[in-house]
Amino acid sequence: MKKLYLKDIVMNSIKKKSKEIINEGIKPIMHDLDFYILSDAKWIEFIIGQIISNSIKYKGNKPIIEFYGEKANNKVSLYIKDNGIGIPPEDISRVFEKGFTGANGRKKYSNSTGIGLYLCKKLCAKLEVDIDVLPNIIDGTIIKLTFAEAK
Ligand SMILES: Nc1ncnc2c1ncn2[C@@H]1O[C@H](COP(=O)(O)OP(=O)(O)OP(=O)(O)O)[C@@H](O)[C@H]1O
Ligand SMILES: [Mg+2]
Repeated sequence: MKKLYLKDIVMNSIKKKSKEIINEGIKPIMHDLDFYILSDAKWIEFIIGQIISNSIKYKGNKPIIEFYGEKANNKVSLYIKDNGIGIPPEDISRVFEKGFTGANGRKKYSNSTGIGLYLCKKLCAKLEVDIDVLPNIIDGTIIKLTFAEAK
């Protein structure tokens, strides 16, 4: 576990996906990410990469992905928000299950295996990072990652 600058981690994660981001016409937007976390850069970038890939796969019109941080009680949260097709409320509780692709995976796409978020959940448990899908947003999807703050 190392002291990591959240902004660098997000920038590196975006860089690693730059090919897809450019090809698919995605606009990444970074807001306040001026926070320090205690974690493992390589694995966190992998996890953020999976989340970015989902935002791309399930994108809508004029796709954007926004990143912003927030600090509370020795924790730092990273929010990754897209304006894509969104996850139906009845699917939200199951997206971390192995092989679950829900309505979005079933209906529209053939390249959904339901492994990405399952892997993320496993890795997060090992890294002591909380990963959640936020409920009740009207448009798109928000994923929240919560880390220990590094002082
Ligand atoms: N940003 C998102 N927008 C809409 N639906 C999403 C998003 N992220 C995840 N989902 C839903 O959650 C399911 C599980 O996500 P997960 O990443 O595990 O699988 P996948 O992307 O379909 O396939 P894989 O990651 O194995 O290539 C998806 O099939 C989809 O239904
Ligand atoms: Mg995926």
